[in-house]
Amino acid sequence: MTSPLLTATNLSAGYRATTVVREVSLTLRAGDQVALLGRSGSGKTTLLLAMAGLVPPSAGVVDRHSLSPRDVAVVFQSPSLIAELTSLENVVLPLRLSSRLPASEAYDRARRALDSLGVDAVDALPGQMSGGQQQRVAVARVLATDAQVIFADEPTGSLDATHARAVLSALRTHCTAQRGALVLATHDAGLAAALPTTWRLDEGRLHQVVPC
Ligand SMILES: Nc1ncnc2c1ncn2[C@@H]1O[C@H](COP(=O)(O)OP(=O)(O)O)[C@@H](O)[C@H]1O
Ligand SMILES: [Mg+2]
Repeated sequence: MTSPLLTATNLSAGYRATTVVREVSLTLRAGDQVALLGRSGSGKTTLLLAMAGLVPPSAGVVDRHSLSPRDVAVVFQSPSLIAELTSLENVVLPLRLSSRLPASEAYDRARRALDSLGVDAVDALPGQMSGGQQQRVAVARVLATDAQVIFADEPTGSLDATHARAVLSALRTHCTAQRGALVLATHDAGLAAALPTTWRLDEGRLHQVVPC
């Protein structure tokens, strides 16, 4: 078995007096592609953000071992694009900030990532795009990087079935190529079934579902 990329031990997290994630222990290894399945309000977003280091634990620990911050990427539940930048620029900016890629290579990579998700409106501003297009740009922003671990929060929530398949496939291909891991939060059991492993979250408690 490969050494862990990330380990959570008795992790609890929440907001002020509210505990949302309760005593979760898990290990993420290279090659893991996991659906984090739970109904709305079960704590999926909070757990993803705690694993990514964006929500502090109220108890327990998250050990990201040898992962650096740039090895970890989040596709946020809301696309969170920069309103003044085009799709292409939204993908290029974090790439240029996190790597020493020459501009021409950064633009090439960004175009390829957008193309793989069928986004052709590369010069459109977020306000000129549908929610589904914005969501695909947000996924492309992560795909263009060399992130090893991707936490994707309902990344297909606004997409039709064809685009949803393209997003899932592109995320999986990226993680395989990076020898990394994917955790994808969803409330959709059908989507979860497309991934080899499911972690079911129920009122902040994690249950691993053994694949049949
Ligand atoms: N920023 C926040 N401040 C206070 N409570 C929050 C915040 N974000 C989420 N919550 C609460 O935490 C619980 C779990 O939310 P969340 O992690 O977003 O679940 P899910 O992603 O499964 O829908 C919900 O009851 C929600 O109202
Ligand atoms: Mg959520």
